[in-house]
Amino acid sequence: MEIDIQLVPSPPDSDILLDRTVVVIDVLRATSVMVHAMSQGVLEIIPVAKVEEAFQMAKVFPRGSILLGGERESKKIPGFDLGNSPKEYVAERVKGKKLILTTTNGTKAFHVVSSGREILVGSFFNIGVTAQRCLELNRDLLIFPSGDEGNFSLEDTICGGMLIELIMEKGGKRMALTDASHCAQILYQRFKANILEAFHLSHHGKELMNRGFGEDLVYCAQIDITDIVPIFKKGVIK
Ligand code: MLT
Repeated sequence: MEIDIQLVPSPPDSDILLDRTVVVIDVLRATSVMVHAMSQGVLEIIPVAKVEEAFQMAKVFPRGSILLGGERESKKIPGFDLGNSPKEYVAERVKGKKLILTTTNGTKAFHVVSSGREILVGSFFNIGVTAQRCLELNRDLLIFPSGDEGNFSLEDTICGGMLIELIMEKGGKRMALTDASHCAQILYQRFKANILEAFHLSHHGKELMNRGFGEDLVYCAQIDITDIVPIFKKGVIK
């Protein structure tokens, strides 16, 4: 089993993905929101790239059955029900609803890797169970950090590095790491005692703090708070 990680979120060759498991990661904050929302009883999530698309999609469903969530420049979008802080997505608010979500990087990433054989939603919240699922699927793996507006993202790469470390612990010698995967694993080892330190150093972490979302950094650094691994298939996360 080969483990690769796309250090910069450029579109991978779609043929290569056909036989691969893909794990999309955007810890600050899109995939953290997705995992949290599913753990609180959201029925399904439809990730869309554009705000206009979200409003159009909302018209297709009966009133009251859907929520619009997401951000632009980290802030809640005018006319939307929810922003992009995982803590907003609690059962009292989201249980039994469909969620249409649009974010700057995270929701787009799913469409970039849509030819993957299995596309999993990863975050620190569900990292242990995601590693377990990758081992069970036993296919070559591409970890896809959704990055920071096309650039490398420290926090997503470290989360990918933790996933690699957990898979290696259980899978051992049958795992082959690419240079990029070694790099992510070493980066994770540097920050494993203090994930929050990495968030504070990262470009998007600083941006979130400046925009008043510092608490989200602490929240998103929590490890293994759920055993849900959402899957993206045919445009929908369940
Ligand atoms: C994204 O998808 O780019 C992030 O989730 C942005 C954010 O939450 O600020």
